Amino acid sequence: MKEPMMKKTIHLAAALVLGTFALHAAYKPEQWNLEARQKFAAQRFGVFIHWGLYANYAQGEWYLQQGKLDEKAYSRMMHGFCPSKFDAKEWVRVFKDAGAKYVTITSRHHDGFSLWPTKVDDGYNIALTPFKRDILGELAEACKEEGLQLNFYYSLMDWHRKDYPAGAAAKAVLGDQKGDYASYKAFMLAQITELIDSYRPGNIWFDGEWEHAKCKDGKWTRTLDWEFDSIYDLIHSKKTLVANNNHQPIRPKEDIQLFERDLPGENGAGFSPNQTVAHDRPVEQCDVIQDNVWGYKIGEKKFRTAEDVVAMVARAAARDANLLMNIGPDGSGQLPSRAVEVLKDVGVWMRRNGESIYGTTAGGVGLLKDVVSTRRGNVLYLHFITPGVTKFAFRLNGEVVACDCLADGGKASVERMPSGDAVVTLERPGKDAFDVVVKLVVK
Ligand code: GLC
Repeated sequence: MKEPMMKKTIHLAAALVLGTFALHAAYKPEQWNLEARQKFAAQRFGVFIHWGLYANYAQGEWYLQQGKLDEKAYSRMMHGFCPSKFDAKEWVRVFKDAGAKYVTITSRHHDGFSLWPTKVDDGYNIALTPFKRDILGELAEACKEEGLQLNFYYSLMDWHRKDYPAGAAAKAVLGDQKGDYASYKAFMLAQITELIDSYRPGNIWFDGEWEHAKCKDGKWTRTLDWEFDSIYDLIHSKKTLVANNNHQPIRPKEDIQLFERDLPGENGAGFSPNQTVAHDRPVEQCDVIQDNVWGYKIGEKKFRTAEDVVAMVARAAARDANLLMNIGPDGSGQLPSRAVEVLKDVGVWMRRNGESIYGTTAGGVGLLKDVVSTRRGNVLYLHFITPGVTKFAFRLNGEVVACDCLADGGKASVERMPSGDAVVTLERPGKDAFDVVVKLVVK
């Protein structure tokens, strides 16, 4: 090869290598981002709200699709959406009393209806209902006053717009609509910009990607390129975190890993068979207070109890995860009274035992059915979840300098075995007491 030619080839090769490197250069979160992630993880317990036109139908948030309704007919409910009992302050008071540190609400669910008076107008938002009021705005205001963080769920899947490329689930409503993703993406970006600029949420919580993705034998097939990199960059440029409920392994620019109805790593509800736990990011488990439904459903009798919710918070915290517990307000704007009662009791427990939840990390011992653990520095919290269980033996390095029971009327003691094991014995405060916490200070 002649010399100039050789030089050119070397330059070209170097450019290619650099180019590839630039493309794949590992994403590094900025300082604000790392701090926001940490703040989020320390909150540990949030309330999820699924609310929209579907509350009026009272059949859950998938009713348009599952009930095989005509979309045009469904969307006419916009003219009948008037939740006169909606009181953001009252909601936030209930959530705060329950010990929740944040609220995540559906700014726009799969039906495509926006709960704020969006200027990115597609003729389908709260300003055009008889109610007219800015629901997200009122909630943002109330959350700010009470010191709760507000976050926005945003559905990627859309059953209303003509430019949305229908995937496996949306097809039931839209047929084989090809859509125009460039146009739909521009719409989403404009809405997300507006949401962040107007209300300053802590995170944007995406959902619906899964209708365009499938995993078989460890291999993913995708029917739409969402161009997430640029969507995430926009959100990050506004100092807001990204979460995506896609049931997939986490991507570098996603700040929070979500597990839908599953404890991270357990795949208990079957949504996460192909999801590995990201140990370098905050993790959030979202779940329902009613049985398997997120939006309001009349006649739904199965509600979780306070005992269930507390056990879920503890189990999540013991896996280094937050719990986001969902409630579906009804069409009048009220929270279901059963849910309010449950939250009240959760709050009583949280006031007494909150130090074993907020700002803790996984305790590292006892990931069992009966006892789980959380930790803060040299303090270890043992959660005796199952009523009746009074003994727990585990391997412990170091010396126990204090052993207390956080529950009123409960007592705990610890014995060291020659093997080095510690055995904690608990006198439960009552036979119905749930999640009794023992606090050990270890030196
Ligand atoms: C599912 C459902 C949806 C709900 C979400 C919450 O993806 O499609 O209705 O909003 O889970 O995690």
